[in-house]
Amino acid sequence: MTVRIAPSVLNADLGRLREQIAEAEAGGAEWIHVDVMDGHFVPNLSYGAPVLRALRRITDLPLDVHLMVERPEQYIEEFAAAGAAHFTFHPEATTHVQRHLAAVRERGMRAGLALNPATPPNILLEVAGDVDLVLVMTVNPGFGGQSYLPAATAKIGRVRAMMTDWNIEASLEVDGGITTATIAEAHAAGADSFVVGTAVFGQSDPAEAIRALKRACLTRV
Ligand code: DX5
Ligand code: ZN
Repeated sequence: MTVRIAPSVLNADLGRLREQIAEAEAGGAEWIHVDVMDGHFVPNLSYGAPVLRALRRITDLPLDVHLMVERPEQYIEEFAAAGAAHFTFHPEATTHVQRHLAAVRERGMRAGLALNPATPPNILLEVAGDVDLVLVMTVNPGFGGQSYLPAATAKIGRVRAMMTDWNIEASLEVDGGITTATIAEAHAAGADSFVVGTAVFGQSDPAEAIRALKRACLTRV
């Protein structure tokens, strides 16, 4: 099965963004994950469209944007124009989830729905035809460097089964605490795309770290 690595720039050295992205590309990263935080939906602040525009200038890889913000619909237009390829938001952060998923697609981006650890995955069935990407959070969002929650593995399996049963053709991405020690478990449970922060940009050789993550996927089930 597919293994896509999406290094998270939250954990990159922003003063060396161009070099860090080049290292991710050299290691075979498929997407670049961009964590947008507003200090309300999660207790942390990060960045928005200016950083997306900077990334767009330095890489051709799809920008996998994860919005941990209230009322994410406010940013659909701006982020599409800034070059986002995927626009993933949390259903708790807004009221008209289906309408906004459709608006994301209309602006030419892939529409993603993010599920926090305590969020029941059943909402997926209500928007099965509107989703291109499901992001299962394997930590409570807000910060890099947290530990993978063991209960997440069973949830990944449940989401994969729902996607199979309902013919939902979407990527199943996981985010939080993914390392060479946890990636195989998440992959075996059904994840195909992996956000990795600390275990890529917290390492002295990010390119080799990505290769090691891909190897770890294949060596244990
Ligand atoms: C967490 C973010 C993640 C974060 C992952 O709230 O959504 O994308 O950057 O970092 P690690 O891999 O260190 O858990
Ligand atoms: Zn994220």
